[in-house]
Amino acid sequence: MPQSKKPGPQATKAPRESVRILITGGRIQRRIQEIAKQIRKDFPDEPLHLVSVLKGGVFFLTDLARSISGEVSFDFIAVSSYGQNTHSSGQVRLTRDLDSSVEGKTVIVVEDILDTGMTLQYLLRLFEQRKPKHLRVAVLLDKPERRIADVRADYVGFSIPNEFVVGYGLDYAERYRNLRYVGILTLGSDTKKDAAKK
Ligand code: IMP
Ligand code: MG
Repeated sequence: MPQSKKPGPQATKAPRESVRILITGGRIQRRIQEIAKQIRKDFPDEPLHLVSVLKGGVFFLTDLARSISGEVSFDFIAVSSYGQNTHSSGQVRLTRDLDSSVEGKTVIVVEDILDTGMTLQYLLRLFEQRKPKHLRVAVLLDKPERRIADVRADYVGFSIPNEFVVGYGLDYAERYRNLRYVGILTLGSDTKKDAAKK
């Protein structure tokens, strides 16, 4: 009986993506409580104005804002990078500005992840020109190995190794943002360079 010709496994489908949990949702929530307390301790009597970078920072902002006691307001900004790969040219562009002025306010920039630092460097320069009373930075994740720009965060949730992560706001091609945890994405093909697209 003639055998039906099956294509070899390597010829059939692209390697499957998978996500391995790095930080559970529970750990993220506990760490956010700690950061919220620390921020309030550092500014006991000040109204705080949280500014989040869309879209990755939204879950961190909403959880953080609800965990800080006292007066809190928030606003959103969006940026995009010209360099659409891991070797970013570092050119950052504003795509959505804030609704209200930050002048005289105690501003906390709330970011999902500090990677090369180019985005944060751009934002800090922009905000400094607008004369806030204080300017601080909170990031959920920090990848210190990848840093190019000389910037640092005042509040860091977790320092992580140089891996591409998704979840809790972070995406790969707009997917995985809704995960409650942060996980390491494995692509298993040479499409990985696209993962740095913002
Ligand atoms: P930076 O300007 O290189 O610090 O880039 C910061 C931005 O790059 C983040 O706000 C994310 O949008 C994106 N990014 C950097 N690393 C990752 C990652 O591991 N997963 C998903 N997005 C990332
Ligand atoms: Mg981002």
